[in-house]
Amino acid sequence: MSELRKGSETELFVEKVVFGGKALAHVDGFVVFMEHAVPGQKVRARILRKKRQYAEAQVLEVLAQSSEYAEPFCPHFGTCGGCQWQDIPYEAQLRWKREHVLDALVHLAGIEETAVNAVIPSPEVLYYRNKMEFTFSNRRWLLPEEIASRETQYDKTCALGLHVRGYFDKIFNMEACFLESPQSVDILREVRDWCRKSAFSPYSIKEQDGFWRFLVIREGKRTNQTLLHLLTTDRPAGREEVDALSAYLLERFPRITTIVHSVTDKKAQVAMGESSRVVSGPGYIEERLGKALFRISAHSFFQTNPSAVEGLYEKVRQMGGFTGSEIVWDLYCGTGSIAISIASDVRRVTGIEVVEEAVRDAVENCRLNGIDNCRFLAGDLKDVIRKIAGDGNAGETPDVVVTDPPRAGMHPDVVKTLLETAPKRILYVSCNPATLARDLGLLSERYRVCEVQPFDLFPHTSHIETVARLDRRQ
Ligand SMILES: C[S@@+](CC[C@H](N)C(=O)[O-])C[C@H]1O[C@@H](n2cnc3c(N)ncnc32)[C@H](O)[C@@H]1O
Repeated sequence: MSELRKGSETELFVEKVVFGGKALAHVDGFVVFMEHAVPGQKVRARILRKKRQYAEAQVLEVLAQSSEYAEPFCPHFGTCGGCQWQDIPYEAQLRWKREHVLDALVHLAGIEETAVNAVIPSPEVLYYRNKMEFTFSNRRWLLPEEIASRETQYDKTCALGLHVRGYFDKIFNMEACFLESPQSVDILREVRDWCRKSAFSPYSIKEQDGFWRFLVIREGKRTNQTLLHLLTTDRPAGREEVDALSAYLLERFPRITTIVHSVTDKKAQVAMGESSRVVSGPGYIEERLGKALFRISAHSFFQTNPSAVEGLYEKVRQMGGFTGSEIVWDLYCGTGSIAISIASDVRRVTGIEVVEEAVRDAVENCRLNGIDNCRFLAGDLKDVIRKIAGDGNAGETPDVVVTDPPRAGMHPDVVKTLLETAPKRILYVSCNPATLARDLGLLSERYRVCEVQPFDLFPHTSHIETVARLDRRQ
């Protein structure tokens, strides 16, 4: 048994990074996890917590550098919760991501290693995102260099930026970011300056009071359109305040094509409005993927890395092996982007999605692209799928099902209905290898996993997207 104690210092050799992004080392066979460490480094670390199965440590010093170390390019790296892996070269990031898919699928779900392809890299590794969500806070988190400067003038009552790594309630003032665009950082700064001078205060998570809550910036990378979504609490004269800020921003940033204002008084820290109004422009932006044009509203899900997702949708199309006669279900369909990318290869697609705004976008997207063989149903998948799979729905037995659930994976009732409906093929698009492994395990009763293709949609983070092709056992 290890002699590690909370507070003790030890030397560690960093062996790998694990799913979720943390680095791992062993001391006498005992597992130690830590942040801010690169495989191949020897570090001095302090034990922060010790549990029965593992310990958590804080790196104090790098004693020997790894041959696989990259110099981070963002000044906020280490503090910011956005990127975890700027200090790992991109090629190595891809290798670790494949390891994590293998760990989940081969070791937990019993899938053959040869079925898992190498990760397809993202065509862009900087400024690849089309959406960023920034949070306001009335308690600004000071950065190490801000504390070191001993500057006493910092206004600590207004922050707008991203979360500090590891903290859901701490926000720092972001001054640089390489994920979306230089424009998005400029907009962020102007909004923050406005907020500082405003009579309204930023929201306090602790007191659940205040006005300014979130700023979401969405960009059409191929159309140069920008949507700003401002979320606030509902306050008298709040509308006029947002209108004034909007007019100010529209004058400064000609690429802002639309602004939406949503209000929410819910405690949950999610950028989802209870009611919304369009302040300026059409209330949505457009984006191109392949030959198709998509309309995206403020609350609709749309894949955040357009250049990489084109390859993913193409892979879905190839894995489908469509002949033109198939009936397809597109589960968790968002704005219909998968349905639209396969529509001309199949007979009919039925998409299901819980966010009504996204369903309206999906219908409009079909119209925009001259597609008339897709229909979309709004509602919780576990309820809607049972209805469309049930009686009185002759002709709606799918040949192929594409499913693209959120991180939590598919609801057990959805898996059950899929097993009963038993389409010939299931294409499972997943952003979480752990829930993918769980669901593939459940589906293995009737399905064999034939091919798994991981994609890197999120460079410099530990996130990984995977497409798996499952064929029904005869
Ligand atoms: C990962 S996204 C996939 C969207 C789409 N396939 C795409 O590629 O853009 C997951 C989608 O599932 C939707 N969703 C989440 N929970 C749901 C549920 N219980 N029933 C139906 N849709 C749900 C979300 O709103 C989101 O649009």
